Amino acid sequence: MSKDTAPHGAWTSRWAFILAATGSAVGLGNIWRFPYIAGENGGGAFVLVYLVCVLLIGIPIMMAEVAIGRRGGMSPANTMRKLARQAGVSQRWSGVGYLGALTGFLILSFYSVVGGWALYYIWVMASGSLASAGDEAVRATFESLQANPGLMLLCHSIFLVATMAFIARGVNKGLEAGVRVMMPALFLLLVILAVYGVTRPGFSEAMQFLFVFDWSKFNGQSLLAAMGQAFFSLSLGMGAIMAYGAYVPKNIQDKRTGKLVPISIASTVLIVAALDVVTSLLSGVAIFPVVFSNELDPTEGAGLLFVTLPYALANMPMGALIGAMFFLLVLFAGLTSSISIGEPAVAWLVEKGNSRVKAATIIGALTWVLGVGSLLSFNVMSSVNILPGLNFFESMDYVTSNIMLPLGGLLIAIFAGWVMRETHIRKELDMKNFRLYLGWRVVLRIFVPLMMIIIFWNELFS
Ligand code: TRP
Repeated sequence: MSKDTAPHGAWTSRWAFILAATGSAVGLGNIWRFPYIAGENGGGAFVLVYLVCVLLIGIPIMMAEVAIGRRGGMSPANTMRKLARQAGVSQRWSGVGYLGALTGFLILSFYSVVGGWALYYIWVMASGSLASAGDEAVRATFESLQANPGLMLLCHSIFLVATMAFIARGVNKGLEAGVRVMMPALFLLLVILAVYGVTRPGFSEAMQFLFVFDWSKFNGQSLLAAMGQAFFSLSLGMGAIMAYGAYVPKNIQDKRTGKLVPISIASTVLIVAALDVVTSLLSGVAIFPVVFSNELDPTEGAGLLFVTLPYALANMPMGALIGAMFFLLVLFAGLTSSISIGEPAVAWLVEKGNSRVKAATIIGALTWVLGVGSLLSFNVMSSVNILPGLNFFESMDYVTSNIMLPLGGLLIAIFAGWVMRETHIRKELDMKNFRLYLGWRVVLRIFVPLMMIIIFWNELFS
């Protein structure tokens, strides 16, 4: 197989890759997870550290993932094996790919449950049952969903089947067009909701909560949570971006000039990260004014999105229509992300000789079963703790985001920074500005591992 033809299909243009990667990055992690984790971790301190993590840890690792993926051209497990061989080191580095596939499988199981909530809320909003509802009625709607495992199971199943159907067709089909239409629409609705937030009486309190750095609220736990959120939101540390990078051709025909041009990894990654951060902040600006205007609790937890924005929407002109559209777009954003969460595991099974349909079915079935554990932890299993003080759902979320993703990211940084031949990674990145390249390399080799080890150490062993 020639280097330029990935076995799983290829993006057709630079924009196709940017859109797919943005589709992966922007999802429930921005709209659902960012506000709730920020709320639980005291707001401003968390947000600032999160931004620093995106800039100094996330972006350098994302560049490494795309570069590794493009060079390897296969599923993360086999890409890592191939590049380890080229570097003359142990092929056990393929373990990074397996760890990633496992992490993705665990994440997808609870991601799909939350995706199911978004699906349900399309219907809730469209039905108009929340029209001019008070915050009690909005909360009751969410609580009755939580108390109904059958309904959650149905929604979880639909979300997962949809995800696997897309993966089975091949991730380069349909994603580009979908993201191109969906993303700007989602953005527009978030802006509308954020503007509505600006008009709420709790707006200035919300801004203070989100953007004023408060040392007293800052601790090792929020540091780890901020780093975890950076990984989760940028889709890093499990090979999702590596898998998408593998479908990037070395050169691509420029639409205007018809010439073959290389794709710049650095600028592509910057665009994706910027869109991702802006979406998260917009979600915060939409959600927290509702929290503070109605004396809701910022530490509400995983339900925060679903007890705030439906309330705002219910009390807006054309709220039912805008609300249904909003949750439809959240659902789409979730789907374009969940596709990338499942892809590394499926791509690996495909390379083992399975058809895409079979591979997606196997992974989907396993994920479905695990997801049942998550959805039961909102009702019958709510008092069953896996980690101390954390139920099944919370434990999955915590372990994957705060431990497994950063660990995968750390290994990827070490691999790209210390193990791969310098000429290989440099050629792949192909940065015009040599100083910037050197900066990236120093940050990846020294700063990223050091920071991450300190953060881990601080939280896990003290
Ligand atoms: N980034 C996505 C979101 O914010 C979720 C996601 C997609 C993800 N692929 C991933 C998270 C890989 C971790 C790893 O919703």
